[in-house]
Amino acid sequence: MRILSIETSCDETAIAIVEAAGDEQAAQFRVLGNALISQIDIHKEYGGVFPALAKREHAKNLVPILEAALEEAEMLREDTQAWSEETRDKIAAILSREPGLAEAFFDFVGECEPPAIDAIAVTAGPGLEPALWVGVNFARALSLAWQKPVVAVNHMEGHIMAALASRNDSEKSDFKNSKKSDFLESSVTDRLGIKDVKMPVLALLISGGHTELVLMENWLEYKLVGRTLDDAVGEAFDKVARMLGLPYPGGPEVSRLAEQLRESESVKSDFKMHSRSLTSGFALPRPMINDATCNFSFSGLKTAVLTLLKKNPEMSNQEKQHIAHEFENAVTEVLWKKTERALEDSGAQTLVIGGGVSANTHIRRFFRERLDTTCPAVEFRIPSAALSTDNAIMIALAGFYRARREEFSADLIANGNRSLS
Ligand code: KG4
Ligand code: ZN
Repeated sequence: MRILSIETSCDETAIAIVEAAGDEQAAQFRVLGNALISQIDIHKEYGGVFPALAKREHAKNLVPILEAALEEAEMLREDTQAWSEETRDKIAAILSREPGLAEAFFDFVGECEPPAIDAIAVTAGPGLEPALWVGVNFARALSLAWQKPVVAVNHMEGHIMAALASRNDSEKSDFKNSKKSDFLESSVTDRLGIKDVKMPVLALLISGGHTELVLMENWLEYKLVGRTLDDAVGEAFDKVARMLGLPYPGGPEVSRLAEQLRESESVKSDFKMHSRSLTSGFALPRPMINDATCNFSFSGLKTAVLTLLKKNPEMSNQEKQHIAHEFENAVTEVLWKKTERALEDSGAQTLVIGGGVSANTHIRRFFRERLDTTCPAVEFRIPSAALSTDNAIMIALAGFYRARREEFSADLIANGNRSLS
């Protein structure tokens, strides 16, 4: 089965074409085409994602991204489409909210042969609703134009599948070039597989908008076991970065500062749980670490950073490193403690971490180390660095499982709060 997938939930516009085979016991995937444009440079100026701007950029980028993905998949053939007046009108109406999108669509899609795909998968939530709608409407228009069914994909299910997928080949090439502006991803021969998944699976989902622990006892059936009561982890990283004067997105920046300190001689004991900082005068709390639930809270931690900064307005780079380091440790320890509790409560046999924050080096290392020491029987799956942040490949993976079950959507809607359970 060939799937064309579309992701526009936040600040990445991405389309992938993936060939998928197998079933829930063992599935194989081959990425035929994969194109992505990141809007990070545009949103940087605003210190965060600006929804109206994200929506406009998605609308501008979708057609060029589609062309790039089709070209990479060698599916680009010129052929003027003879759509009926009615079909044209319907497509124009679907795309009418984005200025210029219908014109670009007719210019390109109207002049190329429908590709040999079986289904279209699109992120239908959660995410920024105006941004989601652009992708959803684009999928609806393509579905009409090509007469292909559409599956609505939950973005978080995409993150889970990306984590479950292990590379079949070596780690030689990466999906994403470090150069974000280069929107054609070099991955034509890349293969992924999802197999031998031991149930139940516990998923720690950590991104800019989400922090939750979800249990999958049967394929595609989810139970929420814990969630943040206020800020998401990625959001906390981004806010702390801003306080430290670092650019958006702040997660990697805070992490870089913290790593600088770890690399210096003074700080070694990172795998220990500290009730407070041992390394500096910049102690931060570990919110809710000892309460009896699997819920999280990060807004107090963020406020604690703000208080520290107010007390020390003129901070040196080294002091900033200490704050970043202490913040990252606090977050990681809380995430681990709650995950450990959920593992014990659920008897999960597999742990996955998904979402943008799962790219964090320290979190990955810490979890690996703690799991090996405290629950070595639990299998740990994390996405390759390139698949941790938003991309369309993960949407194709999740879309495959839904399409196999013929869960096609006739009336597709974007829902910013779509939940897994
Ligand atoms: O999943 P994602 O790409 O988009 C959402 O669905 O939100 O996650 C983006 C979030 C941002 O908050 C970003 O700062 C964070 O993931 N992030 C990181 C790292 N890389 C990305 N946070 C901590 N450390 C990182 N290395
Ligand atoms: Zn995401």
